[in-house]
Amino acid sequence: MSLDIESRAQERENVDPEETIRPIPLAAAVVTLVMVVFGVLYIFFSEPLANSQWGDQRTLADLSGPRPAAAGAAVDGKALFAAHCAACHQATGQGLPGVFPPLDGSEWVHGDTRVLANILLHGVTGEISVKGAKFNGTMPSFRQLSDAELAGLASYIRSSWSNKADAVPAELFARERKADDRTAPFEGGAALQALLPK
Ligand code: HEC
Repeated sequence: MSLDIESRAQERENVDPEETIRPIPLAAAVVTLVMVVFGVLYIFFSEPLANSQWGDQRTLADLSGPRPAAAGAAVDGKALFAAHCAACHQATGQGLPGVFPPLDGSEWVHGDTRVLANILLHGVTGEISVKGAKFNGTMPSFRQLSDAELAGLASYIRSSWSNKADAVPAELFARERKADDRTAPFEGGAALQALLPK
């Protein structure tokens, strides 16, 4: 009798809950796997065993723009302009009003090539008037470029946009470089004008 009650009570009980394994969704597993594989390959292909001081292995030459042209090699005035001048004077040669003077149509670019050579070799700081507008900024010196590169640059700006002046020879820069050992930039337009024969 009592046994009967006990077994009926047991029948009313629910089964004990059991912890089951619930696998992560397939999509999440695939994404994780792809990321892991990408990471491993990325590290593998980035030369993990190389000296860390080599960084991403770009050399100074890669970062410092066009390499100095070997003697006799043709220089690319356009590329030099893009690398050294366009940041200020703009690729269009128009400059920025009130800040960087235009090269397109500039009397300094068309004028006496000795003056232009000196602008590039020594730089200018102070008041200068270009196409009727006054500027008072600082143009850096480019004496670190070779004579051939400077001649390529000067020839490029003299014949680009609406400019139609002749090319200049590298000898001009060689000569002007020797002629003046100033280390400071020219003091504005007046100091440049003083270079011209009276
Ligand atoms: C950091 C900005 C800067 C860079 C880079 C620069 N210039 Fe200039 N440049 C100036 C400024 C500013 C002046 C005006 C200087 C002044 O106000 O005294 C000027 C003036 C000139 C002038 C005389 C004025 C005119 O507009 O004709 C010439 C020519 C010139 N730059 C050519 C170049 C060339 C070529 C390069 C590249 C090799 C170059 N500049 C790079 C800022 C720059």
